[in-house]
Amino acid sequence: MKTTQKIAGDVKDMALADAGKRKIEWANQQMPVLQLIRKRFIKEQPLKGVRISACLHVTSETANLGITLRDGGADVVLCASNPLSTQDEVAASLVRDYGIPTYAIKGEDNATYYAHISAALEHKPQITMDDGADLVTQLLTKRTDLISNVIGGTEETTTGVIRLRAMAKDGTLKFPVIAVNDAQTKHFFDNRYGTGQSTIDGIIRATNLLLAGLKMVIAGYGWCGRGVAMRAKGLGADVIVTEIDSVRAIEAVMDGFRVMPMHEAAKVGDIFVTVTGNKSVLAAEHFGKMKDGAVMCNSGHFNVEIDIPALEKMSSAHRPARPFVEEYAMRDGRKLYLLGEGRLINLAAAEGHPAAVMDMSFANQALAAEYMVKNAATLGKQVYPVPENIDKNIAKLKLESMGIHIDKLMPDQEQYLASWDEGT
Ligand SMILES: NC(=O)c1ccc[n+]([C@@H]2O[C@H](COP(=O)([O-])OP(=O)(O)OC[C@H]3O[C@@H](n4cnc5c(N)ncnc54)[C@H](O)[C@@H]3O)[C@@H](O)[C@H]2O)c1
Repeated sequence: MKTTQKIAGDVKDMALADAGKRKIEWANQQMPVLQLIRKRFIKEQPLKGVRISACLHVTSETANLGITLRDGGADVVLCASNPLSTQDEVAASLVRDYGIPTYAIKGEDNATYYAHISAALEHKPQITMDDGADLVTQLLTKRTDLISNVIGGTEETTTGVIRLRAMAKDGTLKFPVIAVNDAQTKHFFDNRYGTGQSTIDGIIRATNLLLAGLKMVIAGYGWCGRGVAMRAKGLGADVIVTEIDSVRAIEAVMDGFRVMPMHEAAKVGDIFVTVTGNKSVLAAEHFGKMKDGAVMCNSGHFNVEIDIPALEKMSSAHRPARPFVEEYAMRDGRKLYLLGEGRLINLAAAEGHPAAVMDMSFANQALAAEYMVKNAATLGKQVYPVPENIDKNIAKLKLESMGIHIDKLMPDQEQYLASWDEGT
């Protein structure tokens, strides 16, 4: 690892820091709720002296979260939560301008990715912050000596929450973790509108394809899938949804999409987007049926949704066609295209979610960290929701920042809603 002299960290190039600083400041303007929290944190210092290791996508929005935690008194170290999602200029600026040790290089290999997580763990965190639970997994399996320092953690995404719940169930989890993903002000907006817009943005930046008129297959109609389908439809794509959950499949049908199994969709799709949190959603049987020129990408957390080893086996060669586009020559002469190495396409080829939506996600992260510091002693080794009052307050502040006012319940309405004998 290259290590900078003054502040620890491993970033691509410190000369990028000026561009990174401008990007961080630009994102900050779109994050009014986080700004309010930062102002209060500066005064109240709720995280004073608390060591936080954060394993998150290193983007301009994450930088603003890191700065907020630091301004609240925390001693913060940041590492990447995905080898391909880092904004190198932001990582450089975090080290040079904001004094936050950052371990993240876009395109880092697996060994470096885990070395960076190890470096963040060397910080001996009292609070862990994860996006996908890789930091906590390393801590609980490889650095058990550090467990006693930890008072609690937070988790950003659906896949991480699923992993943590499995750990809690079999007794592996050794401290409380707050499922930030499950806050309404997180997944209703970040997963749906954030992933919806930025996934399309990633596909377009990587390919420059015209989506209008193309058959676009979205695998998974969860929070993210709904967003991607909605935005693809808006651009004129003919959207097909695949699901394994019957309720969500009906929802997709009633939202106006065709629903069919992947083995049928594979034959007709021009672009495939997986966003399920599951593995091998696109696999050998599908690659065998796809049209010449079909494009595949993933926006789910891990790069296992598309079975890339199977694709490699079925092809005779592959080569880059454009940045973030790999062309696979199939043995029967067809060409299939894989975007962003099957990693989150919105972060690999675009910039991830817009700051306005990360404002709410990261407001949840900052307030969950504060809550954990105050309440960890009363919590067990479980996965907890973000307290409802925090969630609702973030929505209130976001509305205020947008200049939008809503009605208030009248006392008699409140009473009506609380009673069962009205209307008889
Ligand atoms: N790209 C991003 O920036 C981003 C943002 C948020 C979440 N995520 C990740 O995206 C993934 C989905 O998150 P979500 O919040 O939408 O989860 P979700 O649970 O709401 O939705 C997932 C959907 O996929 C369906 N599914 C599972 N296996 C399937 C299969 N084999 N074929 C078709 N459908 C299948 C499920 O039934 C479910 O409806 C997770 O990995 C999450 O961590 C990514």
